[in-house]
Amino acid sequence: MSRNVKSEIKVRLAEPEDLESIVRFDHVAQADSARISQIKCAISTGACWVLVKDAHPIGYGIIDCSLFFHQAFMSLVYLDPAERGRGLAALLISQIESICTHAKLFTSTNRSNLPMRRLLKKMGYKLVGQVRGLDDGDPEIFYLKFMRHKGKSSMNHLSTPHFAKPILCL
Ligand SMILES: CC(C)(COP(=O)(O)OP(=O)(O)OC[C@H]1O[C@@H](n2cnc3c(N)ncnc32)[C@H](O)[C@@H]1OP(=O)(O)O)[C@@H](O)C(=O)NCCC(=O)NCCS
Repeated sequence: MSRNVKSEIKVRLAEPEDLESIVRFDHVAQADSARISQIKCAISTGACWVLVKDAHPIGYGIIDCSLFFHQAFMSLVYLDPAERGRGLAALLISQIESICTHAKLFTSTNRSNLPMRRLLKKMGYKLVGQVRGLDDGDPEIFYLKFMRHKGKSSMNHLSTPHFAKPILCL
């Protein structure tokens, strides 16, 4: 007898125990210890959000407010490859937007990253520039979305516990 079982999907703040699950699906982290340090740092400062399916992390997103000209910057959104193409990253990004206390949220991705660029366009992000010289032959494209009803100034102070400490992942 077949039974339709609906998965429960939610977004929550990442905890230190989530690191192991994240590394299991993040192929970059598996090969790059700097990536692991970045995730650890974001978790410890309350800047990392996980997308959880039936209690298992299947994606994560990081926001920081100190490294990009003191602006809110979504530095990473990453989904388990097995879960891509079903619109799930939008849930993570929406959560990050909802806790962003700045009037503007910036992000960036490689020009070649069509899934991310399509997603950002769909979610109302505007292309604001590009930087060459980071990845050979693949410029970094920068995007901006104005957060409605948020602080008027880009220097808006961080007021939620998620941003209690500045994030420096060196
Ligand atoms: C980018 C990423 C977060 C998107 O997450 P997702 O949940 O799979 O996104 P969606 O399912 O909403 O798909 C986004 C768009 O890309 C399109 N897309 C998917 N795969 C594609 C491909 N190979 N080429 C072109 N477009 C593609 C989808 O059709 C969708 O566009 P549409 O809604 O206009 O049809 C996910 O692919 C990912 O984790 N990639 C690796 C990490 C990364 O690149 N992060 C971004 C930079 S930090």
